[in-house]
Amino acid sequence: MKAVNTMTRQFPKNFLWGGAIAANQAEGAWNEDGRGMAKTDVTTGGSVDSPRYVTYIDKDGNPGKAPAMGHNGVIPEGAHYAVLEDEYYPNHLGVDFYHHYKEDIALLAEMGFKVFRLSISWSRIFPNGDEKEPNQKGLDFYRRVFEECHKHGIESLVSIWHFDTPLYLEEHYGGWNNRKLIDFYVHYAETIFKEYRDLVTYWLTFNEINNTVMFLDMFGGQGDDKAFQEGYQQLHYQFVASARAVKLGHEINPNFQIGNMICGITFYPATCDPHDVLANRHKWEQGIYYCGDVQVKGKYPTFSKRLWKEHDVHLDITEQDEKDLAEGTVDMYTFSYYMSNNVTTHTGVEQVSGNFSTGAKNPYLTYSDWGWGLDPIGLQYYLEKMYDRYELPMMVVENGLGAFDTVEEDGSIHDQYRIDYYRPHIEAMAAAIENGVDLRGYTTWGCIDLVSAGTGEIRKRYGFIYVDVDDKGQGSLERTPKDSFYWYKKVIASNGRDLD
Ligand code: BG6
Repeated sequence: MKAVNTMTRQFPKNFLWGGAIAANQAEGAWNEDGRGMAKTDVTTGGSVDSPRYVTYIDKDGNPGKAPAMGHNGVIPEGAHYAVLEDEYYPNHLGVDFYHHYKEDIALLAEMGFKVFRLSISWSRIFPNGDEKEPNQKGLDFYRRVFEECHKHGIESLVSIWHFDTPLYLEEHYGGWNNRKLIDFYVHYAETIFKEYRDLVTYWLTFNEINNTVMFLDMFGGQGDDKAFQEGYQQLHYQFVASARAVKLGHEINPNFQIGNMICGITFYPATCDPHDVLANRHKWEQGIYYCGDVQVKGKYPTFSKRLWKEHDVHLDITEQDEKDLAEGTVDMYTFSYYMSNNVTTHTGVEQVSGNFSTGAKNPYLTYSDWGWGLDPIGLQYYLEKMYDRYELPMMVVENGLGAFDTVEEDGSIHDQYRIDYYRPHIEAMAAAIENGVDLRGYTTWGCIDLVSAGTGEIRKRYGFIYVDVDDKGQGSLERTPKDSFYWYKKVIASNGRDLD
């Protein structure tokens, strides 16, 4: 690949440089100011080798736990989700952004952030999810946060849903298996659109909406057609909810820019065996295009029929749904990007997994301590491929390295490995822009350390800002800029020219 010349490396003048967090992973204050619970509040910590669990009390009053992922946190019949005394729940504290938001936003401003991506916790606004009236204290909190961002000249990019459906809706309605969730979500979206009409311009409807199909692929089990039926049906209700929210958002404020959000993994055929090449194409269809096509083009793609047939899936789709999908297409295509993965039909090949996806190990890549394949060229590939397909403005709304950080005796944190990760990814974006991609923004993941979604660890650190807290919630919560903080500040100040 021809490297982009530093002299010609260009990012658009108003390029939105920034970073991202999610409510459930950063805020803490899980039971303050009237907030209701989400599944993440009954999810334990884990690690790269041990899974996270959701905890419950069964119908006979006995405590129990079920795997949070793959199993999708489903608990036995008659049981109810519960916080158990002898378990630790890392999302309860997060990194206490709820009480530290002012100093955190000031630090982001010091780095020169143009945009800050964060999510709203649905159950802070509607504690159960099915109320008519919102929780005023929840609304007030986000108003203060957005105003603080404005004070520093930072745009907010808001995810409406980031893995945190109110737990009450999960327990009493069966979560996204129930069509009623569409109305609850739309009411929630309408409430926040109206409330923050003049404070927020950029919105994302569902974070990594395609994870549901990735999950199916990873854990769904061969032959478990029920999991596929449920997964695709849940997704359909989320597509309709997203489309109706987009339409409504544009009515509330025509300047709103509303995007989808896809877990962007670049897939390669592991070999040139035509079986692998075809399997790779199908992987893109199932994992990436399926959701992107519905949300950008407003209708299901042709290959959907093949996917549904493969697992005997029959969807509840009404004519009104089809109309909603067509009328609620997104303004921009956004995605997370951490890694690529190899697709093979061959057996006995070494497997790797990360970010809701498994694949064959790629001998040309190195892997992070958590086994994620590091591949900046995959980012350029993804950007160019998706821009060709959709020709919509794009944003990379997550990208980053989860790594162990060491605090030196003098309190400094030398995270050169993080800088070394970001540099080629930024070069890859520049190359894609040079090749015509309309890329508008970049928000690195976990600009402040936070709880990992996959493992529940804090020691899997992503931030430019170190937070003094460990996996048991011990620590002063003091914030310290790492070396990467000063480096990213330079990157932003030079609009991506100075990556040294
Ligand atoms: C994405 C999610 O999947 O990847 C984030 O949108 C998540 O919520 C991020 O934190 C990194 O994954 P992990 O498992 O390292 O936290």
